Amino acid sequence: VPRLCRVLQLTLAVIKPDAVAHPLIIESINANILENKFLIIRRKDLHWKKEHSEMFYAEHSNRFFYQRLVEFMSSGPMQAYILARDDAIRHWREMMGPTKVFRARHTSPDTIRGRFGLTDTRNTTHGSDSVESAQKEIPFFFPDFCIDRWMKEEEPLYR
Ligand code: TYD
Ligand code: MG
Repeated sequence: VPRLCRVLQLTLAVIKPDAVAHPLIIESINANILENKFLIIRRKDLHWKKEHSEMFYAEHSNRFFYQRLVEFMSSGPMQAYILARDDAIRHWREMMGPTKVFRARHTSPDTIRGRFGLTDTRNTTHGSDSVESAQKEIPFFFPDFCIDRWMKEEEPLYR
C-alpha cells in the first residue's frame, strides 16, 4: 500500500532589526507567511551580540559591507522562524526578493525587500539559500531543535 505523504522542507527565516522596529511591517510579513501556506514550526525573539553576527556572517568577513552588516544585525531585536512547506527554501527567498534594495524595488516591487527594504544592509529579512545552509542555520538559531527528531515525528509539529 503506498504511503500517502507530502514532503515538507524546512528553512530558516529571520526578520532583521530594521523590520522588527516597525509593527506594521512585522504584521505584514507574518500575514504573508501564512498566506503562502507555510507552517510556523518554531519562532523566537532574539537580540544578538556583535560576536553572534560575526559568527553567522563569517563567510562574508572579507566583503566591504561586513562591518556595517555585523553592527546592524546586533543593533536591535530580531525574530527568527523555522518555516516548513514544500520547496520552502526557494519559496521564502522568492518572497523576500533580491538582496540589493535598488534591484528589489525596481525588478520586484511586490516582494518583502522591494516593499520594505531600506538599504542593501537594512533589507528586512534573511532566508537560508540551500539545504546545506538551512541545516547549519537552523541549529545556529535554534540549538534545542533537532531536525532529525522532528522529521521522524518525535517532536511536536509546532511549539
Ligand atoms: P548575501 O548572502 O549576499 O544576501 P542574502 O541575504 O540575500 O542571502 O548577503 C548577506 C547580507 O549581507 C545581506 O542580506 C545584506 C548584507 N549585504 C550588504 O550589506 N551589502 C551588499 O552589497 C550585499 C551583497 C549584502
Ligand atoms: Mg545569503
